[in-house]
This record gives sequence, C-alpha cells and structure tokens, in this order.
Amino acid sequence: MPLEAALNPPSQVGFVDLHSHVLFGLDDGAPDEATALAMLDGLAALGVTEQCVTPHQKASQYLPSWDDVEATFAALQRLRNPRHPTLRLAAENMWDDVFYQRVAADAIPSYAGTNAFLVEIPPPLMPPTMVDQLFKFRMAGKVPVLAHPERYHALWGDDDLARKLRNNCAFVVDLAAVGGFHGKREMKAARHLLEEGLVAAVATDAHQVGDLQQAQQGLAWIDKKLGHAAVIRLFDHAPRAILAGQLPDV
Ligand SMILES: [Fe+2]
Repeated sequence: MPLEAALNPPSQVGFVDLHSHVLFGLDDGAPDEATALAMLDGLAALGVTEQCVTPHQKASQYLPSWDDVEATFAALQRLRNPRHPTLRLAAENMWDDVFYQRVAADAIPSYAGTNAFLVEIPPPLMPPTMVDQLFKFRMAGKVPVLAHPERYHALWGDDDLARKLRNNCAFVVDLAAVGGFHGKREMKAARHLLEEGLVAAVATDAHQVGDLQQAQQGLAWIDKKLGHAAVIRLFDHAPRAILAGQLPDV
C-alpha cells in the first residue's frame, strides 16, 4: 500500500516525529545523503511535517562528536527540499556514564530550543535510580522523553512501574513495534501500553527507508483499534506539546 494512501494526516498541519536516524554517516541510521533524502521523501509521504533527527549518543557504540552532528545537520538542511519536513536537531541519549556526566554538567543534548530530551535505557537493565532521577529532571523543569518503552523487560507485565515512570516522562513508542516488526514481545508490549493509555506519543525511529512502511502499518493499527483521534493525539498534538516544554497528559 502506498504510504500516502494509508492515512489522512491533518491537512493544515501534519505529523511531528520525535525520533529518527535520518542524519547520515553518524550511527546505524542513514549511511549517506541519498538515503537521508529518500527517508525524508518517505516521511513527507507519511504526512510528517516536522522531523526530529536524533543520532545516537551512546558511549559503547555510537558517540559522534557534537561538531560532526551539527555539521551533518547543516548539510541536510542545505540538501532538503521544500516538500520535506522541517528538521529539528536532537539526540537519542543512552542512559550511560556519558549521560550522567552531561546531567551533572546540565548539558544533555536536547530537542533544539526546548527543555525536552530523548533518552533510552538498555532493554534488560532498568537503572535502579531511574524513577528518582526522572523526578529530579521534572523538578528542574525538564521533559524527559523515553524512547521505545516497549523494549524494556522490566515493563513487561509491570504496569505499576510503567505508571511510576510515565508520571515523570513521556513514553514514545516505536510505530514499527506496534506494527509487529520488532518482535512479538515488543509488539504485545507496545499495543498494551497504548491500550492502557500509558503512551504519550509515537515515533518512527526510522533507520532506513523501509522502516517507514513499517511505521505506516503501526499507524494503521492505531487508527483501526484506537481511532483516528488517537493518531492525531499521539503523532501530532502530544509531540507538539513536548516540544513546547510540556509533559502531555496521558
Ligand atoms: Fe533510535
């Protein structure tokens, strides 16, 4: 099914995607300019009008220098065409030693122009201080955004923990996981979190062009099971609220 046939994004506005690896040559996302531009074509077809680009900041694996990140962002700004989504620079911060150093220095790479930042944790290991640390972030006026909560083993079957966490951060589920492309357990968790009303927003987390067809199928599931208003809330209103510095009610 063509992407544009999948859903009707709001005609005057458009979707806001909080998580992607469109910036090329920095991590396991787009390897080159051509792929990045093809991804922007696909995101535009999906109805995205604002695209957050969130390269990994992960000590053990992908830690491109911020100079390189900014240079690549500037290059992609020059290459994109007017039909593409506008771009906003951010990062996907792994909850690791580098992150803790940046927390101490009040220098977490955030969504540009906001107090919101995207963070992930290792799937098998919930940091023991996480609930307390998220509370501290909120007290400091920050908006933590938790990437792909459906991957975290500690949340599988523990809605009490999920509620404790999401009281102080925004859960942002990967659309491809909702569509069933990240494994059965992750699909079940993603759909459960959505059905329980624990999810603030959804995102593509796109690493390559093919991920956008998968994301479209996740959107189609939400549209069918939860209704079109849920699509608008999760992929339009809530991401805008987050980028305006608010933790959306869920
Ligand atoms: Fe990601």
